Amino acid sequence: MTSSAPLQNDLLLRALLREPTERTPVWMMRQAGRYLPEYRATRERAGSFMALCQNPELACEVTLQPLERFRLDGAILFSDILTIPHAMGLGLHFVAGEGPRFEHTVRDEAAIDALPVPDPEQELRYVPDAVRVIRRELQGRVPLIGFAGSPWTLATYMIEGGSSKNYAWSKGMLYDRPDLMHRLLDKLAQAVTDYLNAQIAAGAQALMIFDTWGGILTPAAYREFSLPYAEQIISGLSKQADGRRVPVTFFTKNGGPWLEDMAGCGADGLGLDWTQDIGDARRRVGDRVALQGNLDPSALYAAPDTIRRHVGDILAAYGHGTGHVFNLGHGIHPEVSPEHAQAMIEAVHALSPGYHQG
Ligand code: CP3
Repeated sequence: MTSSAPLQNDLLLRALLREPTERTPVWMMRQAGRYLPEYRATRERAGSFMALCQNPELACEVTLQPLERFRLDGAILFSDILTIPHAMGLGLHFVAGEGPRFEHTVRDEAAIDALPVPDPEQELRYVPDAVRVIRRELQGRVPLIGFAGSPWTLATYMIEGGSSKNYAWSKGMLYDRPDLMHRLLDKLAQAVTDYLNAQIAAGAQALMIFDTWGGILTPAAYREFSLPYAEQIISGLSKQADGRRVPVTFFTKNGGPWLEDMAGCGADGLGLDWTQDIGDARRRVGDRVALQGNLDPSALYAAPDTIRRHVGDILAAYGHGTGHVFNLGHGIHPEVSPEHAQAMIEAVHALSPGYHQG
């Protein structure tokens, strides 16, 4: 990285490394998104969601939009986890109201063997380009979080051809041809490692791995098909940039039952959805990792006073000391009013300093 301004607010990085902070840092999954009218306007100008992702200037614009409104402690790269399968040639598009769709699926040995591992500075160049533009425009205000999907979560989309209810094809392959599934996951782990390293090289200061569908697995299948690949990726990352450690957060939605296992995967932090009490989670993982979460995104439908009360409950449940990054338990819903997101963020600013004294 050249010409990057010094970081003015490093609360997020310190909390993830379990170093002392004056208050609890806060950001929101999907903080740039459809609940913001200015996001909808930029997306309209871009023409489509993919065009927005592939235009580094516009991706930068929407990344910064929530920071103009709210006192957030992190920016997250505007992109999607499905850029990798798209770069592998699967033909991603988004169908209004239905989510992502791939033109091609990956359901047999020939299709898996034919998949290339994309070079992130070639086929995916728009992503590190966006990271470079965002770092320049952030001017050191807050750290930039890069991200990718977990191999298992990416595999479900590639095998199903989009979102799914029963994961018929992916679970079918997992039970019937575990060897093939491993071959696909291994290739994806390689692609994700390269992709995240390129984001670090371009200027990402923290990373998050989204294992959105890890929670649909049995405990044994999770240990065999999801967790080891997160571990493989994390161990392959260049963990330093600008002389600082680049912390990694691993998020498995509905991963509560196996938090202890997740705590050993090499991540600095674990993302928690709202189905866990964050105090119990902290007792279970001990001082091995930081925890990110975990307000129910639907709590933001309630009135601001109610939102503040629930923020207070989560801060109290986590308790005193560092190692907590306040966030939602999953992405913010599109119907939420920005004022309600603001109430959550302001409540973290107001209520959290009391947990960081002495
Ligand atoms: O958090 C952020 O603000 C950064 C941007 C971000 C997006 N997608 C933008 C997006 C991030 C981190 C993601 C990750 C992502 N994408 C995940 C993992 C996180 C999670 O939510 O569990 C998954 C599973 C996807 C795949 C995906 N992308 C789906 C299923 C959809 C359609 C459903 C939906 O939420 O709209 C998308 C589209 C998408 N990705 C949008 C945004 C802002 C909405 C597109 C639009 O503008 O219409």
